[in-house]
Amino acid sequence: MALVVFDFGGQYAHLIANRVRRCKAYSEIVSNDISLEELRQKNPTGIIFSGGPHSVFEENSPQVDPQILEMGIPILGICYGHQLIAKILGGIVQSGDIHEFGKSNFSPIFSEKKHTIFKGLPSFSPMWMSHGDHVTVLPEGFQISGTTPDCTVASMEHSQKQIFGVQFHPEVTHSEYGMTILKNFVELCEQESEWSLENFIEEEIQKIQKKCFEKKVFLLVSGGVDSSVCFALLKKALGKERVFGCLIDHGLLRKNEAQEVKKMLAEAGFEGLHIEEAQDIFLSRLEGVFDPETKRKIIGDTFLDVQNVVSERLSLNPEEWILAQGTIYPDTIESGSTKHSSQIKTHHNRVPKISKMIAEGKIIEPISELYKDEVRIVGRILGLPENLITRHPFPGPGLGVRILCANAPNFLPNAQKIEKSILHDEENTEIICTKILPIKSVGVQGDGRSYRHPCVLQMNSTEEHKKYSEEEKWKHLISLATQIPNKFPVLNRVLFVLKGNLSDISFQAFSEITKDRIHVLQKADAVVRDICLKNGDITKNIWQFPVILVPVGTNGTESIILRPIESENAMTANVPDLPFSFLEKMAQEILDVCEGKISHIFYDLTSKPPGTIEWE
Ligand code: XMP
Repeated sequence: MALVVFDFGGQYAHLIANRVRRCKAYSEIVSNDISLEELRQKNPTGIIFSGGPHSVFEENSPQVDPQILEMGIPILGICYGHQLIAKILGGIVQSGDIHEFGKSNFSPIFSEKKHTIFKGLPSFSPMWMSHGDHVTVLPEGFQISGTTPDCTVASMEHSQKQIFGVQFHPEVTHSEYGMTILKNFVELCEQESEWSLENFIEEEIQKIQKKCFEKKVFLLVSGGVDSSVCFALLKKALGKERVFGCLIDHGLLRKNEAQEVKKMLAEAGFEGLHIEEAQDIFLSRLEGVFDPETKRKIIGDTFLDVQNVVSERLSLNPEEWILAQGTIYPDTIESGSTKHSSQIKTHHNRVPKISKMIAEGKIIEPISELYKDEVRIVGRILGLPENLITRHPFPGPGLGVRILCANAPNFLPNAQKIEKSILHDEENTEIICTKILPIKSVGVQGDGRSYRHPCVLQMNSTEEHKKYSEEEKWKHLISLATQIPNKFPVLNRVLFVLKGNLSDISFQAFSEITKDRIHVLQKADAVVRDICLKNGDITKNIWQFPVILVPVGTNGTESIILRPIESENAMTANVPDLPFSFLEKMAQEILDVCEGKISHIFYDLTSKPPGTIEWE
């Protein structure tokens, strides 16, 4: 018996299965082309159709056997899955002018029937969206069961057949009552099992022992919670003598990071961490490279090459050693490693060479099915210290994906028209200037990768402006950050100016990562880290605080972008409304410490989606 999740390539298909398991129901992911017969053999108690990056009316978009909808068990379609149900059963799906990325205010229409999946929801609640297409005509027998301001059929249901569709994503943590909806649906499916993270640890230890047999493990360590939890699990399964931890310093770490990690890990009981100094090889391979994906692949491949060098130098016989990584599930899905999923960005632990080694059974990844929030719980169960568990995540390619490189400006053709339109909509408010920057960054829109322009807003800072309260200003900025990419999907980020003037900014050619640029970013990043540490009360909800260096500025200088986010598992994120005085102080200190190398400082207002957390 299983609650079956159909994977249409959505970023959150695996997350759906994971959340169903958290409702204590056993769930299994299947490919959309499973036959009716194969499906019947699984004895499904219910079905969930995931989202996906395609349009249902695209040729070759993933479909299902229509008879599956006649099986008489509860079915829930999410995003693409919702649209597919509508299309198969005779409804109409169309591409709309307004797209929705990020937060939307959902209002359910409660039915008289006892079993509605919206039981326990308030009249309005935030739900996370990521779509361009909409259901415009319902299939026969269906009713609209909820709406948002921009989406009339935000949800639909055929209560007699127990078939439900939701345009939003109940599985992501930012959809506040999403888990309630999934629990209600699981309840309808009448299926229970006993999945828990404690059981997961026991089972994983057995798997590690079986897979390694008598081999020893070479673990790549970063000092983040994922690789540390992996370290702890391996140690528990094999004993500390059989686990060799190695941190590769690629020269793109934060200021003093390698030594701090060594000390912190030793305090947590992981002594003897080997630090491999490999700055030169990484930086020389990155010379003249500015495409983000190329950078990511070079960094991922170089990790593997350096690991081989270390193994050879230490005469580690490949017959006696196996490689381990602390990969977690978002790394896999974002790298486009499932059948219909889009590649958002190649994580350093998912470059093609590594995927090949995994297929050949040459790598173990004990926590690759988990999300960050679960990894943290596992860490606590295993008794790791809290300072390690709550560390902010830091990407494997490090500052390499936080230093944008470009040798020519990348102008958006109709930029001025869009800028004018944004300002026109903003008449009589506090935004006095907008500018679309001639650079691009990575985003995730409608389950697919986007590589698009950021738009910057400059607020009025005159005396008159003071009539708006800080709360009003934030509300307005955050709502603009949602509306602008929804209305102009050629933009995937919205920033506002903390320091500098928009009229003074232009593209500056910085075509590669240099030691000088790394140094500038390390200094700015250290200021942010330091101020955050000293102001724990203000920053306590921040999950991660990337600081990015971008090649726009005035006369040979660059700009810094502050990108704090709140999240639980990095699959979705929103932006905190930090006090302006706090940000002002942080921005001024960055300008001071960077000694004339930085002209502008911006604050990134973009949720995920449409932006990703990192810029590249
Ligand atoms: P994005 O930018 O995709 O990031 O929203 C999601 C989370 O993953 C981190 N990240 C990485 N972590 N290797 C990693 O181990 C990588 O290549 C990588 N790229 C992004 C990112 O910092 C965020 O926490």
